[in-house]
Amino acid sequence: MTATPEQQTVLVGVTGGIGAYKACELVRALMRCGFRVKVVMTDAATRFVTPLTFRTLTREPVATSLWADEPGDPVHHVSLAQEADVVVVAPCTANVLAKLAHGRADDLLTTTVLATEAPVVLAPAMNVHMWRKEVTQRNVDALRARGFVIVAPGSGELACGDVGEGRLAEVAAIAEAVEAEARRARDLAGVRVLVTAGPTYEPIDPVRFIGNRSSGKTGYAIAEEAARRGADVTLVSGPTALPDPFGARVVRVTTAAEMREAALSAWADADVVIASAAVSDVRPAARSSGKIKKDALPDSIALERNPDILAELGAANDGSRVVVGFAAETGDPVAEARRKLEAKRCDLVVANDVSGDLGFGTDANRVWFVTGDAAEELPVLDKRAIARELLDRVSALVRRKRGT
Ligand code: CTP
Repeated sequence: MTATPEQQTVLVGVTGGIGAYKACELVRALMRCGFRVKVVMTDAATRFVTPLTFRTLTREPVATSLWADEPGDPVHHVSLAQEADVVVVAPCTANVLAKLAHGRADDLLTTTVLATEAPVVLAPAMNVHMWRKEVTQRNVDALRARGFVIVAPGSGELACGDVGEGRLAEVAAIAEAVEAEARRARDLAGVRVLVTAGPTYEPIDPVRFIGNRSSGKTGYAIAEEAARRGADVTLVSGPTALPDPFGARVVRVTTAAEMREAALSAWADADVVIASAAVSDVRPAARSSGKIKKDALPDSIALERNPDILAELGAANDGSRVVVGFAAETGDPVAEARRKLEAKRCDLVVANDVSGDLGFGTDANRVWFVTGDAAEELPVLDKRAIARELLDRVSALVRRKRGT
């Protein structure tokens, strides 16, 4: 069966655990939600449930092999990876979890997961001791950090007789996670998003500059996640060591003045502005065209102020755009964020505390989302998860502004 234009395709990966029989219920639940469902099974999974069971339930062919049956058949792992709006692996054994955590691709399912750009939900199920092993937990953390959604196993009596965590999560909880990802996969379709990211470098001479320790990771994660959710993304980036995020238009700049110019030209067409850049507040008043020799270095450098790009964009907003700022603070993050929210006329400010180990250059961060009437504290999350949470709020703000 082919999907109707508005119907999304969910690819269900089934691996070799006793919970495989519950994947039948999951498939039915997802079909009841309106999804077109296709199933990929590992070899081990076929020992628990037959492909025929899933073929009958889904009325779709069930793929089990990397190798196309006929010369004209599609390259399975690529076509399935592209077709899927969401991939869910349930049950996901410890072995498949480990393979995915390390990017191994030695069968159809693991190859498809590696090849897909769609969000991936994993529902691990295994013996309690296997689940609790540090190596398994590290694999889970690594996957979560890369943006995989983990539906944690439940606790109780396991098929092997042991009691503890490891039981496949409830089918309803897995289906709910898939639905949430399916909504996210499209919620920014047609929305034009401008993201500023990274530091700016303000040259003193051709080799020296004033800059800061921003890695750009948060802004890049936001740009990539927004593009994945269907947005038309322009990323204006200061100097970073990061590769261009997939799906975004990238404008690389060096100084605050260049960033301002690039941001202003993208602003005209933007629905959303997310200013995550750590723009240098000042620049040397004069720039030497040649390298200043050691003996000629001045004792002090005269500075002048850089334009505040976010404040300028906030002031120019007629209310139709969603404007998001960041506040990196060592004091009271929420109070400062609220001040910046008003001063720079933002709809939301992401406050983060950079006084401890978290913040610049790290992969995880603790943030607050501060709006006119609320301050929401999030747990310590990796930057990708923060991007996901932030874009959930942005998407709601866009809908509110559009009255949809
Ligand atoms: N920002 C900007 N242009 C600047 C300075 C900041 O666009 N010249 C934006 C940042 O991208 C961020 C927000 O403003 O979204 C807050 O930046 P921050 O450096 O925390 O605040 P400042 O305005 O510099 O205030 P202060 O130094 O007093 O904390």
